[in-house]
Amino acid sequence: MAKTWSPDTWRSKPIIQVPDYPDQAALEAVEAQLATFPPLVFAGEARALKRQLAAVSRGEAFLLQGGDCAESFAEHGPDNIRDFFRVFLQMAVVLTFAGGCPVVKLGRIAGQFAKPRSSDTEKQGDIELPSYRGDIVNEIEFTEAARIPDPSRMLKAYRQSAATLNLLRALAQGGYANLNHVHQWNLGFLKDGPAEKHYEEIASRISESLAFMKSCGLTPDNTPQLRSTEFFTSHEALLLGYEEAFTRVDSTSGDWYATSGHFVWIGDRTRQADHGHVEYARGIKNPIGMKCGPSLQADDMLRLIDILNPENEAGRLTLICRFGAEDSGDHLSTLIRAAEREGKNIVWSCDPMHGNTIKAANGYKTRPFDLILKEVEAFFDIHRAEGTHPGGVHLEMTGQNVTECIGGAREVTETDLSDRYHTYCDPRLNADQALELAFLIADRLKRDRAQAPDAKKTASAG
Ligand code: PEP
Ligand code: CO
Repeated sequence: MAKTWSPDTWRSKPIIQVPDYPDQAALEAVEAQLATFPPLVFAGEARALKRQLAAVSRGEAFLLQGGDCAESFAEHGPDNIRDFFRVFLQMAVVLTFAGGCPVVKLGRIAGQFAKPRSSDTEKQGDIELPSYRGDIVNEIEFTEAARIPDPSRMLKAYRQSAATLNLLRALAQGGYANLNHVHQWNLGFLKDGPAEKHYEEIASRISESLAFMKSCGLTPDNTPQLRSTEFFTSHEALLLGYEEAFTRVDSTSGDWYATSGHFVWIGDRTRQADHGHVEYARGIKNPIGMKCGPSLQADDMLRLIDILNPENEAGRLTLICRFGAEDSGDHLSTLIRAAEREGKNIVWSCDPMHGNTIKAANGYKTRPFDLILKEVEAFFDIHRAEGTHPGGVHLEMTGQNVTECIGGAREVTETDLSDRYHTYCDPRLNADQALELAFLIADRLKRDRAQAPDAKKTASAG
């Protein structure tokens, strides 16, 4: 029998990656205030996402999860949100139409603020200061004052999340996502690029299909699926004082839900079975994720699966694998085999970002597009070989025309990195690169489906 859980039982467990707040009373006062604020999402929405993820675990849909590595206060604005949403929609349309697969849309947004760090301190020259831990904790500026963790930043992060989510809901439901606008989602700076041409072809085919459907009597007015979309939010549940304040009982089921976002995940550095982050996540009923890096052994994974999804509920647990292009083969097949042997229901997702970060000769942290693609390809290859479902991808991306990852069809070079390197943490795919990746994944989905045993059977029977 699992031990009793409540939103604060994580406090009695060991924990790492927590900020060192100098004023405990101020911290407690902010957490108490947050606990009185309205939830950002409803339990019913989290359950709807879980049902969609259950379909992913059965191979009936594909998960697209993506957004900033770290949202920031400085970059908060309507254009950023709209541009992100727009390229995300384009990617989803490409995957749905070219890949022939329903897409579950899950943003890393409206709450993705807290960052785990590889070191507690950062050194520049002779000066050593506490590391930046995301705008919800401290400031990125390299001064002593800026790096002091300040609990009032949680209030600001909450307000920003609420405003972001409000716009996202309007964009998803208020007409912007109407499929008749598929041509208008194209971003200006994609113009004449390779992805734009490819995208315009798909958009034209969609327009033709819509015209056909209209003549059959199906229009956005009478078919909600054509005029709106479902979009969900997610972030790493790292700052547990914040998460606890938004953990609320759902009045219809009596269960506890994280209401700071629809889906939360446990990071690769904080997935110790007996630690606070796993303790927190096991008690909420949302769909949850866990990052799986190279240090995760199969028996640890199975133990964590039992803790996090004791009833083996489909759609509850997404394992987000991030081994790096060079190493993913053995790691991933070992984990898949162990989970299959035990009959576990898993959504397998591929994060091709975090295992492929390199330092360019000029000092910039970057990620080569080729390595990102290589890890995604390996993910598909291995699932195909194991007979399991490559459920989705987890990307760090933006709708802006940044120069943070190198490569792509409109090649960003190492020298270009300094032009528009804006990230607050890890390098993100720009809109061009993100869309290009979506096309490549769509091709792969289509190809794999054409070669799947079921498809062969249907073909030979027909
Ligand atoms: C992240 O997703 O930004 C992150 C820190 O990932 P990981 O926990 O996999 O290192
Ligand atoms: Co990151």
